[in-house]
Amino acid sequence: MNGQSEKIDTCRTDACLRLFADEVAAGLSAIPKELPCKYLYDGEGSRLFKEIMELWEYYPTGCETEILERHKADIAAAVDSRAFNVVELGAGDGTKTKILLRHFLDAGLLFHYVPIDISESALEGLKEDLRREFNGLAVQTLATDYFEGLRWLAQSMRRMNLILFLGSNIGNFAPSESRMFLSSLWNASNDGDLVLIGFDLKKDLGTILRAYNDQLGVTARFNVNILRRINDELGGEFDLAGFEYYSTYNPRSGAMESFLISRKRQTVYIDLCGRAFSFAKWEPIHTESSYKFDKGQLSGLAPEHGFEEVANFYDSRSYFADALWRVRK
Ligand SMILES: C[S@@+](CC[C@H](N)C(=O)[O-])C[C@H]1O[C@@H](n2cnc3c(N)ncnc32)[C@H](O)[C@@H]1O
Repeated sequence: MNGQSEKIDTCRTDACLRLFADEVAAGLSAIPKELPCKYLYDGEGSRLFKEIMELWEYYPTGCETEILERHKADIAAAVDSRAFNVVELGAGDGTKTKILLRHFLDAGLLFHYVPIDISESALEGLKEDLRREFNGLAVQTLATDYFEGLRWLAQSMRRMNLILFLGSNIGNFAPSESRMFLSSLWNASNDGDLVLIGFDLKKDLGTILRAYNDQLGVTARFNVNILRRINDELGGEFDLAGFEYYSTYNPRSGAMESFLISRKRQTVYIDLCGRAFSFAKWEPIHTESSYKFDKGQLSGLAPEHGFEEVANFYDSRSYFADALWRVRK
């Protein structure tokens, strides 16, 4: 890496498309039906997610911005190495990350930034922004999923890493997936590495429900976009108006659960899946879960997975937390 961005591209291949078709077929054959939420983020999905982040109802953006502004110096102080990598999983448009990048540069720290994201278009936009705003910053983008990204990290240079997993991306995992992810993260990192993970916290239900049911309907469009993507990339024949978005909080699991619900009895052929899928009237497809955490859970997660808790940073309303952990081996 020499100040130029380079891209290792893994998402436009036949293998990637095959996996997409296989996962869609498996999800739409399951009872109840589901689609993996990682497929929400194509170019249009990433653009819509940027719009979501700017909605007044979507509190996580403002909360995490406040935390990073307030604690950027604490985070820099915890990085007790003058040369390190900032590796970010699911970087998106990197708006909040730039708060840290700017602070690290101003503090004279030497680092490379490696944003990893399944969405190539999100990475393209981020790369362009960084070129404009942080001329000379060494950036290597990696268009792949979290677990491939961690495999890359395990084999990459042995510099100290600060690994970012912001925006409550971890909340999209079911508890068993979350444990698997944290174990893989620990395995891929070095003794002494730092991880900063964003957790959305439990709070009054009105606030949570509003964040996923915005008045402008952007979150609904973001979810329906997965059907449009299946039509475009897999030769699907979804009638987009035949499904409606529904999102609600499940107090037993502690997650917002989002669905696309079939408004009618219908059968939809998907060319690359080589078959049709039937939907009963009012049958749901689960598209995404967003787990909410309580403070006790955060403190338990670190030692359970081999991390030492360094600090938990909260916004002024305690709506959101960024947990800073050190890897101990
Ligand atoms: C909720 S957005 C958050 C973006 C950013 N971390 C933030 O806080 O603004 C999730 C991001 O993770 C990416 N993503 C989702 N699932 C992924 C996966 N399985 N592997 C890699 N990236 C993924 C999406 O493309 C998207 O950019």
